[in-house]
Amino acid sequence: MIRLLIDGDLPDSQYDVLQAAARHAATVEGVMTPCYVQVVLTDDRGIAALNTAHRGINRPTDVLSFPSIDYPAGDTAGQAEQLLLEEWDADLGASFLGDIIISLPRAREQATQYGHPYERELCYLLVHGLFHLMGYDHQMEEDKRNMRHKEEETLGGIGQIRNMDDVLLQAAREAMKTAYAPYSGFRVGACLQAEDGTLYTGCNVENASFGLTNCGERTAVFKAISEGKRRFSAIAIAADQHAPWPCGACRQVLSEFAPDLRVLITWDDGQVAESTLKDLLPHSFSPATGADAHLLGKERHG
Ligand code: THU
Repeated sequence: MIRLLIDGDLPDSQYDVLQAAARHAATVEGVMTPCYVQVVLTDDRGIAALNTAHRGINRPTDVLSFPSIDYPAGDTAGQAEQLLLEEWDADLGASFLGDIIISLPRAREQATQYGHPYERELCYLLVHGLFHLMGYDHQMEEDKRNMRHKEEETLGGIGQIRNMDDVLLQAAREAMKTAYAPYSGFRVGACLQAEDGTLYTGCNVENASFGLTNCGERTAVFKAISEGKRRFSAIAIAADQHAPWPCGACRQVLSEFAPDLRVLITWDDGQVAESTLKDLLPHSFSPATGADAHLLGKERHG
C-alpha cells in the first residue's frame, strides 16, 4: 500500500487518480508493506535545478525519482517488498519509499504530444517514478521492456489504458531519433510488435558504401528474430519528411514472418496512415509459394 504526500497544487480529482495509481502500482508489484512517497510537483526550472544538483545534468526533465532504499548493484526488480522492511519507521507505522519530482508543464506538453489526456500523462510519470523507487530501471533493453510492462499493467488496472497503436507509433518516432542517415538525411524509425506483445524498435543504418544501408524496418525485424521471436502482429514506421511506406525489400522480409501484418505509418509531426502487408505486397513470394513449393516440386518430380 503506497500513500502519496503531495507538495504542490493538485485538484482533488487529480489527487484521487494519482493515489489510485500508486495503490495499484503497489498491488502489481506485490508491495504490501505500508509505505509513503513524497511527490513534489514543480516546473521546468525547479526540476532542472534538482537534475543539476543530483545528477549533474543541467536541463529540465519530466520526472525524477530518488529511492530511499539503498538497492544493491545488479537486477533489483522485484526486491522492494523485502528491502522496504529495513526502512520501517515504527513511529509512522510505514516505510519511506522515496521522493518523486514531476514537472507539470512537461506533463502537459507530453500529453499533447502523445495525444492523450493530461491526467493520463501525470499518472504515467508518477507510475514510472514509483517503479524506479521499487527497484526497476531501463538501462538495458530487456529491463526497459519489463518496466514498461509493469507500468502498462498498473495504468490498465486503473482504466488509464493507452491505445496500443499510439504506443507503437510513439515508439517508432522515438526510434527515429537514433537513425544513422548522414547520406540521405531521411530518418526512419520502426516499432515491430511480436504476437506476445513484446516491442522491437529499429532505425535505418546507412553506410558510405550506400548499398550496405539497412532500413529501419529490417533492423527491427532482425532484432526480434535474433531474440527468438517469429510471429508479429503490427509494425509502426515513422519518418520526419514524407510518408514512409516500407520499401519492397522490407515488405518481402516482413512477409516471411508476418503475411497478415498491420502496417501503420506516421510522418510530418503526427500524420498517420494504415494498411496491411497483404495490400502492400500482393501475390508475395512466401515460404509456401516459394522455397517450400520448390522443394515439394523436386520431390514430386525426382
Ligand atoms: N529507408 C528505410 O529505412 N525504410 C524503407 O522502407 C525505405 C528507406 C531508409 C534507407 C535509407 O537510409 C533512407 O531511408 C533513404 O533511402
